[in-house]
Amino acid sequence: MTFPPPQRQWPAWLVALTLAWPAAAFGQNAANPAVSADPVQRGAYVFRAGGCFECHTDTKNKGQPLAGGRGLPTPFGTFFSPNITPDPETGIGRWSEADFVKAMRKGLSPAGENYFPSFPYTAFAKITDADMQALWAYLRAQPPVRQANKPHDVPFPFNLRLAVWGWKLLYFDGKPFVADPAKPAAWNRGAYLVNALGHCGECHTQRNLLGGLKSDRMFAGSTDGAEGKSVPNITPHPSAGISRWSEKDIADFIGSGMTPDGDFTGGLMGDVVAESTKYLTAGDRLAIAVYLKSLPPIESLPRKPQSQ
Ligand code: HEC
Ligand code: HEC
Repeated sequence: MTFPPPQRQWPAWLVALTLAWPAAAFGQNAANPAVSADPVQRGAYVFRAGGCFECHTDTKNKGQPLAGGRGLPTPFGTFFSPNITPDPETGIGRWSEADFVKAMRKGLSPAGENYFPSFPYTAFAKITDADMQALWAYLRAQPPVRQANKPHDVPFPFNLRLAVWGWKLLYFDGKPFVADPAKPAAWNRGAYLVNALGHCGECHTQRNLLGGLKSDRMFAGSTDGAEGKSVPNITPHPSAGISRWSEKDIADFIGSGMTPDGDFTGGLMGDVVAESTKYLTAGDRLAIAVYLKSLPPIESLPRKPQSQ
């Protein structure tokens, strides 16, 4: 018995499918907000993927969208997010687009002062130019809210903006996102969504005493994560809870908050799902899952007893 000779040319249907696949997966069409021709609509999508709403809205106290004032407790004290509505007095209404890009990519205020890394510019520095422009267009189109910023409640020496220079030297590379041409499109899209916009590693990675992410423990969970609670390992190591989750399980979880066992996530991840990942297209959620499944497996740290 002979096998058919290897196909030199791909059958037309396979070529068509391959070309159409990224379009289908990422919906390269007008109905998809991620690729809409309208920058404000595209920016709305980037804004959700970046989780800006969660941190910049004090939902617990029924705060106005993006007017800031949400408390972000950390081991160094509590930071309060600022007002990023276009109000000229209390928000960022007087900023230029260049000021915005400098804040997001360099972690510097218009006056050149360092931002604290509780604002995840280490991730946002990797946002593409096109997404950054769209994000700015979206923020400019939001209603201004007059609400003064609350000062951070962070003790000395962690309240020193000058000291952040040292931190930046150690933990901030400011490098743009570079796609890996050897990897499939979905993997690259997932890598971008996870590392540049979703800043998933900011919570899912153990930090050292200076608050820097431990580079050898990326995505392997944290025993004292945001708000002092432990955050699970999301690498595919057998000691991680999600090692048995399929790509579809992960994509469904970040779309609905429901685990494969039928439990619903709450707390900080509940906020991430409700305010950010559930707005992503099915293709983008799957891309995130593809990327997470490809991470180097890292064993979980022993859990610390939790105080509720
Ligand atoms: C994890 C919480 C968090 C997320 C997510 C977050 N921010 Fe922030 N952001 C902060 C904090 C905290 C500060 C203040 C930092 C400081 O005072 O040094 C800040 C500061 C800013 C500033 C500077 C404002 C000013 O008045 O100087 C801008 C602009 C900004 N964020 C935009 C965004 C955008 C756009 C997104 C979404 C892509 C976003 N932030 C997501 C926490 C967050
Ligand atoms: C603000 C902190 C924070 C951010 C940002 C965050 N997570 Fe989470 N995540 C958590 C916490 C806390 C849990 C545990 C929730 C629970 O126990 O219900 C969790 C749980 C999960 C789980 C389930 C793990 C398990 O074993 O049950 C997955 C998957 C996950 N996150 C993926 C992501 C992805 C993907 C992103 C980025 C888009 C992300 N997370 C961003 C805090 C965060």
